[in-house]
Amino acid sequence: IPRGLDEAVVRRCLAREAQTLIQLSQVQRWVHSVFFGGGTPSLASPLTIAAVLETVSQCARLAADAEVTLEANPTSAGASRLAGFRAAGVNRLSIGIQSVDDAELQLLGRDHTADEALRTLEEAKKLFPGRTSIDLIFGLPGQSVASWARGLERLLQLCDDHVSLYQLTLERGTSLFKLVQQGALPTPEQDMLAEMYEVARRMLQDAGFRQYEVSNFARNGALSTHNLSYWQGSQYIGIGPGAHGRFVPRGSGASLREARIQTLEPDNWMKEVLAWGHGTRKRVAQNPLDVLEEILALGLRTDVGIAHQHWLQFAPSLSLWDAFGASEEVKELEDQGLLLLDHRGLRCSWRGLAVLDSLLPTLLNQLQGGKGLSRHMQTTPSRQNP
Ligand SMILES: *[C@@H]1O[C@H](CO)[C@@H](O)[C@H](O)[C@H]1NC(C)=O
Repeated sequence: IPRGLDEAVVRRCLAREAQTLIQLSQVQRWVHSVFFGGGTPSLASPLTIAAVLETVSQCARLAADAEVTLEANPTSAGASRLAGFRAAGVNRLSIGIQSVDDAELQLLGRDHTADEALRTLEEAKKLFPGRTSIDLIFGLPGQSVASWARGLERLLQLCDDHVSLYQLTLERGTSLFKLVQQGALPTPEQDMLAEMYEVARRMLQDAGFRQYEVSNFARNGALSTHNLSYWQGSQYIGIGPGAHGRFVPRGSGASLREARIQTLEPDNWMKEVLAWGHGTRKRVAQNPLDVLEEILALGLRTDVGIAHQHWLQFAPSLSLWDAFGASEEVKELEDQGLLLLDHRGLRCSWRGLAVLDSLLPTLLNQLQGGKGLSRHMQTTPSRQNP
């Protein structure tokens, strides 16, 4: 809820926009997950969360075991608030811990301390046992591999069954960016960043976690349904200021997916929702190649990669073998032990997953330049399930 706006009005707008977009999309058949994220949704009241869920279950079929995740930061998520969110229907929590070093948290401009982060984690684990995830950041200017490993070690003693790792990107306009530019803090070296990532995935593996995606680790099967279905290219609607969505519009005879972005400025978004039922700022029809590029880039982020059957749902007449089987470059990546194309499908090896960004250009190139792509792609892909 953006500051200065009346939460009751925002709540009505969120519900209204959810209703409109569900009706415009094919998402109404089944909803398997709901994700409250972006900004700090834990600042909203549980009433708002409940209202959105209520709308979803009125307009669509919300599966009984649907995953309902809330992103929370340690300061806005005291124990009583967390209990309120659970009562409202949230059944999975993702906490933006980022670091357990107060100096690092300050550098990141976070207003929580390491103690608060750990206390929130404790409380969350009681309320959402097995369904509490933590976000961590590495690659802070001045951070060493050893200090990163120490912080992670500590968290591995305390965390639940899901961990997400992000490498810091220095964004223009932040004070951290300025400090680095002025030379007050060192720019993290590429080699060191790669080592931090490598050290972390090994520590997580030793602690029983499966790396099921480039940045995500789970044990005891605690994979996130929501994010998995995103990496598999399922349809979703996005509601609220600046939200993104991807779906095949209903009716209209169209069978192509559209990418949608909702208006970013909260007060404009509200006016649009009140006037038209939704605040979609941009609609881009994705052509078949766009969709396949997305399926490829997202699917390869997961450890299971892209299964043949899955790919054929989007490219009924261009199999993975057709697209990549004859390529010398792809063969080379296989020989280097980075990529596998076999009876299961196409996927990265453990080593390949760490360097996915450097593999993708070759694969995308192959897909775009693929002989007979236009011949193969006459049928438009569409997917029915949300
Ligand atoms: C999961 O999906 C949500 C919503 O699409 C996104 O905001 C979040 O960053 C994703 N989390 C991970 C760990 O990728």
